[in-house]
Amino acid sequence: MTDTSTKSYTLIDGRKIAGEIKQEIADKVVERRQAGKKIPHLAFILVGDDGASQTYVDHKVKACKDVGYHYTMMRFADTISEEKLSKHITAVNNDDDVDGFIVQLPLPSHISVERITDKIRPDKDVDGFTNRNFGSIISKVPLLMPATPFGVMELLRRYNIQTEGKNCVVVGASRIAGAPLSMMLVEQGHATVTICHKYTQNLKDYTQHADILLVAVGKPGLVTADMVKEGAVVIDIGTTKVDDPSKPNGFSIKGDVDFKNVAPKCTFITPVPGGVGPMTIASLLLNTLRATELRHP
Ligand code: GUN
Repeated sequence: MTDTSTKSYTLIDGRKIAGEIKQEIADKVVERRQAGKKIPHLAFILVGDDGASQTYVDHKVKACKDVGYHYTMMRFADTISEEKLSKHITAVNNDDDVDGFIVQLPLPSHISVERITDKIRPDKDVDGFTNRNFGSIISKVPLLMPATPFGVMELLRRYNIQTEGKNCVVVGASRIAGAPLSMMLVEQGHATVTICHKYTQNLKDYTQHADILLVAVGKPGLVTADMVKEGAVVIDIGTTKVDDPSKPNGFSIKGDVDFKNVAPKCTFITPVPGGVGPMTIASLLLNTLRATELRHP
């Protein structure tokens, strides 16, 4: 899309790229079926009835259907104990028909995300959350890449956005997004990377020098136009649920970037929704295919 009223920028269309990747995967599923090979099977563990989590999982289930994967949905009440949930995870780990699974986050506060994540078999960890898969980024024997950063790197590649030698500033150092993304930008992208986080002072001093600014914090409107260099590439990984009575489900998803005012300064920018979000799902599908190929070549 081009905004003719001011400067032009290219909108990074995550839905379109994710659609292309899904078509590539669907073709591979057809090939596997024709060759009599196992069809990928992805399982979902959803705890509680958080509306946003339900919506995200619905999108992931739909993506499975679109590419021809088998899937299993496992729902548990938010009162489930950590011990019981762990037992279910062990069962899925040992279920030979399931090639990959995810535990949708957030979990209720009485359950430790770290301990639960630790229980997931790394070769079925298609979110790429385990320590083994975090290490995959710099490993000579990679297993499954952390899904959201993998999706961001793929967006940059498919839009021919060069990262080598570029000044990349990542805002947010979470285990899911910021930290693994920073490592990927160094290892695979050969970029110079600065990681900013909640203790960073004078955030703008860093962001305004970024050739590529990648933001994964979860604070709508955090990045304003004065924080962005003219001609920058901006990747918004934020997904915050905000009440919105105009929407059928009562909420909408907001990114971290003040898109309207930042976009005119950019060469490329991702929207929210429709930018990084669909790429996380595409990465999940790619990881599930890889997990299946590893177990059933
Ligand atoms: N909650 C928000 N994003 C994610 C994600 O990518 N994976 C899982 N499992 N939970 C999430």
